[in-house]
Amino acid sequence: MSDTGDASALVRDAVRVVVFTGAGMSAESGLDTYRNDESGLWDRVDPEAMASIDAWRRDPEPMWSWYLWRAHLARAAEPNAGHRAVADWGRLRSVTVVTQNIDDLHERAGSDDVVHLHGSLFEFRCTECAAPFEVREFPEVRVSSMRPPGCVRCGGAVRPGVVWFGEALPAAEWERAAEALVGADLVVIVGTSGVVQPAASLPLLAVEAGVPVLEITPAPTELTRIADVSWSTTAALGLPLLVDAVRTRGIP
Ligand code: APR
Repeated sequence: MSDTGDASALVRDAVRVVVFTGAGMSAESGLDTYRNDESGLWDRVDPEAMASIDAWRRDPEPMWSWYLWRAHLARAAEPNAGHRAVADWGRLRSVTVVTQNIDDLHERAGSDDVVHLHGSLFEFRCTECAAPFEVREFPEVRVSSMRPPGCVRCGGAVRPGVVWFGEALPAAEWERAAEALVGADLVVIVGTSGVVQPAASLPLLAVEAGVPVLEITPAPTELTRIADVSWSTTAALGLPLLVDAVRTRGIP
């Protein structure tokens, strides 16, 4: 694992940056990661039962309740110093955030070029006709089951706008992410175990295009092997130091 010096050397001259993030990016905002040893979300919740299109078709009510509760938790969380550093970086250089996260903490920190590969807790659509649907209120107490509203156009069940296991990633977002990664002059991977496909294969496109990769992670991941530098720190500690290096570098 490398240190601040190696990481800062990589970022100083970068002008087109992609920051590729996962759940670890929001860990210091108090939101769960999925696979953190025994404390991950999927150690407490069965993803097949609560995050798959098959389970939704069988019985949408437990899932509807759980995703509204997760939206409440994400809305109650605050962007951390890592989210804010990425947004600051975006005011100094061209920065595209490609995230697997379904929270809106990058946007609330001020990042304005964010690609959500797995959708968003704050977008909703009809399961049947895909008509968009707005939900403004989120429950402050978790309940085990809630009936989803009916689509105003066709009566179908309204669903969260997230990508579940068994579903394809949105093609437009995939294309945007792939284009940004191969056209970047630096990719920074933060807070992802790199185990979920196809998202985890995206950074490989950058490697194949000869783009240098910096990973910020407290522990080795499936993507550590493709990183030019893997820096053993956290999102909220490491990213502000990187942006300080960019600031002291000044105009490229
Ligand atoms: N800073 C940086 N990284 C961290 C921090 C932190 N403070 N805390 C934990 N991490 C790291 C963990 O070490 C782990 O490698 O973040 C990573 C989180 O990995 P996962 O929990 O697997 O989350 P992620 O990679 O985003 O999962 C991908 O899986 O279930 C699906 O749709 C879900 O988008 C999610 C996808």
